[in-house]
Amino acid sequence: MGRRTTALTMMLASLGLAACSPGPERSVPARGAMLFQQTCAACHGSDGRGGSAPDLTHLAMDARGTFPSIEVLARMHDGGDAMPAFRDLALGPTVVVEIEEGIGTPVPEDMLAIWRHLETIQRPDL
Ligand code: HEC
Repeated sequence: MGRRTTALTMMLASLGLAACSPGPERSVPARGAMLFQQTCAACHGSDGRGGSAPDLTHLAMDARGTFPSIEVLARMHDGGDAMPAFRDLALGPTVVVEIEEGIGTPVPEDMLAIWRHLETIQRPDL
């Protein structure tokens, strides 16, 4: 495991450094909002509060206050019964994200952007 772990740790370290510069971090949710309009809004509503598909603004609340990161990423990637799979969002560059403490996983940038956007529209007060 040694070599792989080291590479991952280095990637996580560089992600940590990148997070210190305000530019890219701030633009991720904005890009996510745009991608959400293009790819998800037709079914989930432009504000994510549901349409022909479920409301996505209480995912965190349904999961006892913690935004269900892995489930949301998996759902985007694999789709559902009546939801198409968005594997093609995985075609762009990836960044390594710490999904759980100490566990990093490569996530496609576009998926990450939508995921961050969804996190910002969670409503705690339902
Ligand atoms: C063609 C319509 C359609 C599109 C486009 C769509 N979804 Fe869905 N989505 C659904 C439906 C319908 C469900 C309900 C369960 C099922 O049928 O799979 C769902 C369920 C979900 C869930 C689970 C909700 C819950 O309450 O557990 C998430 C998360 C989700 N979608 C995210 C997204 C994201 C993010 C996008 C854009 C990348 C997207 N969806 C695009 C139709 C769609």
